Amino acid sequence: MKKYNNFFGRFGGRYVAEVLREPLRELEDAYKKYIVDTDFIDELNKFAKDFIGRPTPLLFAENSTNQIGGGQIYIKLEGLANTGAHKINNAVGQALLAKRMGKTRVIAETGAGQHGVATAAACARLGLECVIYMGAEDIRRQHPNVYWMELYGAKVVSVESGSKTLKDAVNEALRDWSGSFNNTHYIIGSALGPSPYPDMVREFQSVIGREVKEQAKDLDIAVMVACVGGGSNAIGFFEPFLEMNTPRLVGVEAGGKGSGLGENAIRMTDSGKDGIVQGYKSKFLIDSDGQLSETHSISAGLDYPGIGPQLANLGEIGRVEFTSINDNEALEALKFFARNEGVIFAMESSHAGAAAIKIAKGLPKNRAIIVNMSGRGDKDIFISAKALDEKPWKEFLMEESK
Ligand SMILES: Cc1ncc(COP(=O)(O)O)c(C=O)c1O
Repeated sequence: MKKYNNFFGRFGGRYVAEVLREPLRELEDAYKKYIVDTDFIDELNKFAKDFIGRPTPLLFAENSTNQIGGGQIYIKLEGLANTGAHKINNAVGQALLAKRMGKTRVIAETGAGQHGVATAAACARLGLECVIYMGAEDIRRQHPNVYWMELYGAKVVSVESGSKTLKDAVNEALRDWSGSFNNTHYIIGSALGPSPYPDMVREFQSVIGREVKEQAKDLDIAVMVACVGGGSNAIGFFEPFLEMNTPRLVGVEAGGKGSGLGENAIRMTDSGKDGIVQGYKSKFLIDSDGQLSETHSISAGLDYPGIGPQLANLGEIGRVEFTSINDNEALEALKFFARNEGVIFAMESSHAGAAAIKIAKGLPKNRAIIVNMSGRGDKDIFISAKALDEKPWKEFLMEESK
């Protein structure tokens, strides 16, 4: 395990109500104990192989590389993991930890739904009761994932407060946990929240980067690119490379539909401000009342107004560079990789794909750029089909709803 961090530079910490200090202390103790326990690691590795389907492949995107004519593009196909996204690495890790802690019930928040699906699947496999908090607006936008969560046996609670999205679901989950921690573990879905979550989620996700390091050992890697919502796929992908000077590590935020507050989720290169929200200090998009701002992205998983504290710090010290990709560029990248590689990126990962296309153009042919496809695009069919092929898609939906 890497050094345990309560703070990353001036970001991180544990800014919570007194009632949550006890479960967080208990979790920190359990995490520190089990993350170095060989029985636990063996069990985690077995689940990774047999249930998650690890290692996921590293694909040489040969057609795309030839077409672009710059550096060699490689894609880490994290979307081939069970439930279709990297979220399962953390969900399984934390669910196994919950069992070791003697908890029988798990709660989680979900935005795009992918973390909820992963948590529900892990709980089904491990025989844990599972309750997922999800904003009413996200339930509307990501309905197929609600269906999957319920099929796995989870209870999905619709959150009607605030903007009815991810941040409101987090608030409800924290409220539940304050009164239920005796038998309940709260699985946070990204590398954020009060400590020990940013450390713990990074460690469970770092399997992605460790595999890449092994799979790419004969490549001359110039750049690694990942999309950044809260930042869990990015930090897991980057983790084994953080203490080296190379390769360049690039995090891609959602440029949405414009540069105004509320039109994107760019926290690191534009209007992000220091804040303390939902138990941790980081960069947030904040409105003129000092409240969390609304955000927009075509990808539900990138539209969170905050960013994990370790990435906020890595951005400030310059080890991770940040850039942004707008909705249309992400859609173009989705089409590009589908046509050239037979791979359908999740809308979130399409942002990383679009940035990779731009960066690859400027690289020499003998150097590699690796893009993390954090998930596959099945879940986005209601968004991508509408955006790319509106009329036939709407006709199909009308027909199906008869
Ligand atoms: C496929 C996929 N990629 C990326 C994200 C963004 O999360 P994170 O930045 O924690 O990886 C999500 C969130 O739901 C997701 O579903």
